[in-house]
Amino acid sequence: MRELLRTRTVPIPEGDRPRRLRANPHLRDLVRETRLHPAQLVAPIFVVSGHGRREEISSLKGHARLSPDLAAVEAERLAALGVGGVLLFGIPESKDARGEGAADETGPVPETLRKLKAAKLPLVLAADVCLCEYTAHGHCGVLDGDRIDNDATLPLLADAATAYAEAGADVVAPSAMMDGQVAALRAGLDAGGFQGTAIIAYASKHASVFYGPFREAAGSTPGFGDRKSYQLDPANGREAMRELDLDASEGADILMVKPAITSLDLLAMARTRFDLPLAAYQVSGEAAMIEAATERGWIDRRGAVLETLTSIVRAGANVIVTYFAADAAAWLREPR
Ligand code: PBG
Repeated sequence: MRELLRTRTVPIPEGDRPRRLRANPHLRDLVRETRLHPAQLVAPIFVVSGHGRREEISSLKGHARLSPDLAAVEAERLAALGVGGVLLFGIPESKDARGEGAADETGPVPETLRKLKAAKLPLVLAADVCLCEYTAHGHCGVLDGDRIDNDATLPLLADAATAYAEAGADVVAPSAMMDGQVAALRAGLDAGGFQGTAIIAYASKHASVFYGPFREAAGSTPGFGDRKSYQLDPANGREAMRELDLDASEGADILMVKPAITSLDLLAMARTRFDLPLAAYQVSGEAAMIEAATERGWIDRRGAVLETLTSIVRAGANVIVTYFAADAAAWLREPR
């Protein structure tokens, strides 16, 4: 009797067979909850001055520092793939203590923006606003001794944002993590007549090791110390919500978290708290991990890219800044 009981199949309540909807690709397609679309992807582009200049970035596979003419060619390729937008980062010819180059209207970012604007590509034009690429010391703000001076940095960030808006940016993206930076940019933009220029706020930006490859690309590694006095402790989620709240109340149009894969809980929390669009930045170190594991034959690159991007959207992001924007857009356009 005991023997028999052990081999008898246990009846499954009729509603409890989720495998029914996984039986074939058509069913899986029909019930898929999260769909990626090329239009929600934003591609970072590093720009330098000059003409015909292309310098490969060894730490960021497939990416290069481009002069404005070549950045325009790249933007055309991205637009043809249906990518939603580009996010420009400038690398100046020379750096100084105050990062004056950030607001220079003859710098690589404004010059590229004017070119892209004139090309009338179907792309959102966004520009990162920070001082770290422009300061000789590599910090995101100006110094007072060895302290990063929050309030002295704000007008410099606002000037840079205004220069980019004037050159044609649809969106400016302050990433310096200075308190009050969104309000400062909004006030500066409005005073300059750029009420229509949107702000995508790097609201929750952790002091992360995953920015390493970017700093190599931008030559923006801090010359001393680290960024922990302005970027968030990765341990803090409630403080991240406070940052998002502040940026929303200062006038941010889109709230961003970064890195992406280490902030999925924050995206999910933010999705229930805010009605603004949410963005996530899949940063350079996240891309580097996928590239390195691919090179070793340990993971499938396409699978890893699409799985991470889908998970980021599932967690709550509407917009993703990703170094894989072009590849992902091409894969998403393939007939299924
Ligand atoms: C500038 C900035 C950084 C990134 C975006 N904007 C670097 C940093 O904070 O050190 C990182 C992006 C990436 O790693 O891809 N402050």
